[in-house]
Formats: sequence, structure tokens, C-alpha cells
Amino acid sequence: MELNDIVPWGRSFLEYKEIFSLTDSELKKKILGCGDGPACFNAELTASGGNVVSVDPVYQFNEAQIRSRIDAVYPQVMAQVSQNAADFVWQSIASVAELGKVRMQAMSLFLNDYTEGKAAQRYVEGALPELPFADAEFDLALCSHYLFLYSDHVSQENHLLSLLELCRVAKEVRIYPLITLSGDVSKHLDPVISLLKKNNVKVSLQTVQYQFQKGATQMLVARV
Ligand SMILES: C[S@@+](CC[C@H](N)C(=O)[O-])C[C@H]1O[C@@H](n2cnc3c(N)ncnc32)[C@H](O)[C@@H]1O
Repeated sequence: MELNDIVPWGRSFLEYKEIFSLTDSELKKKILGCGDGPACFNAELTASGGNVVSVDPVYQFNEAQIRSRIDAVYPQVMAQVSQNAADFVWQSIASVAELGKVRMQAMSLFLNDYTEGKAAQRYVEGALPELPFADAEFDLALCSHYLFLYSDHVSQENHLLSLLELCRVAKEVRIYPLITLSGDVSKHLDPVISLLKKNNVKVSLQTVQYQFQKGATQMLVARV
């Protein structure tokens, strides 16, 4: 992974809570955030006493490197969102300017926590489809805005291997969204569900309260 290939863009704790319909008792479990990147879910949950580890290939870089990349790509991402504003639901976030503020606040919380959290092994460098964790190490694994969303960039084989890997390291796995960047249901969803069922994993699609990208209303829940 080259730093120049990365577009860091991270969500807040509140967004994660809504994206994955997380209850207060679920937030007390041992949680893995897979592909958390510069989201501040880990920083905020840890600050409130939670037990969470984030894994992402971007954690091979240090705080200064990630910070400078965020600053470099921010204007480009904002321009893209403005051009495609009709693809999003402007309710809980009311405007492109507010979105920029919310995302930068989230990424700033992440950056302020990152160096300390990395030393404490709360931010672990790693990448699907092979994670550096033991079997059933986590109660719950969450994967926000990576699998299914990037269906044109991540192969079907990688989707299948990644779901099996997440089910190896966690007793329950939640993935959101189930649609691609262009808003279509991922072509990898049905094959993933079939494979999980064949492996005796209980799978359901659940509607969530969160919606920012139009049509992104469901998460996949897999219980081992
Ligand atoms: C769009 S960002 C989402 C960040 C965060 N989950 C959120 O929802 O705000 C996608 C993340 O997936 C990470 N990623 C890319 N390839 C990955 C892989 N093979 N395994 C795990 N994460 C990966 C990227 O580094 C990036 O941080």
C-alpha cells in the first residue's frame, strides 16, 4: 500500500453506533473494527471504557504521514461529494460543509489517539483476507465501508475469504453497506451468503437506522 494511493475518510462513533445498530450492552463486548482507517470509533469507545481493536493496512504509516495525506485529499473528496450530492441523504448531516466538519472532527479525534493507541496495540496493521488474530478472539467484528462497497475493486474470492476470516476471529460479524459505490446491491452478496450458510454460519440482513448513501439501509449479520 502506497500512501499516495490512500484516500483517508473516517466516520464518527455515533455513525458507527447507528450503522451497526449497536446497543449499550454490545458496546461492552470485545470488538474488532476491521478497516477502521481514520474513523474515531476506537478513540471514542476506548475513552468511554470500551474494549476495541482496529485493524487496517493504513496503520503501517505514522501519525504525521496519515495527517498530511488527510490534508492533501480533503479538498478532492469534498469536490467529489459536491458533484455527486444527489447520491446522498442530507438529513442528519445537512450539507456538504457540515459533512466536511463532521469527518474532519472524527479524523482529528483518531489522529490524537493514534500514536498512543498503536503503542497499546489498539491500532494493528493488517489486511483482509488474513488477519493477525486468534480464533474467536473477538465477540463482535464490524466492517464499515470496505467490503461490498468496493465490489469493483475487491474480487469475489477476496470477499469470500474475508468473510470466512472475519467469522474465524469473531463470534459475530456485521458488515455495512451492502451496496457498491454506484448504489447497486453488491454482486458478491449472494455468493457470500451461500458460502456462510454452507459453513453453518447464521446469516441475516437487517435494516439499520443510518442512511447517508442513498439505498444503504441494510447490514449483513453473521453469527458463528
Ligand atoms: C472508506 S474507508 C472506511 C473507514 C471506516 N471504516 C469508516 O467507515 O469510516 C475504507 C478502509 O478500508 C481499509 N482497507 C483497504 N484494504 C483493506 C483490507 N484488505 N483489509 C482491511 N481494510 C482495508 C482502508 O485502508 C480504509 O481505511
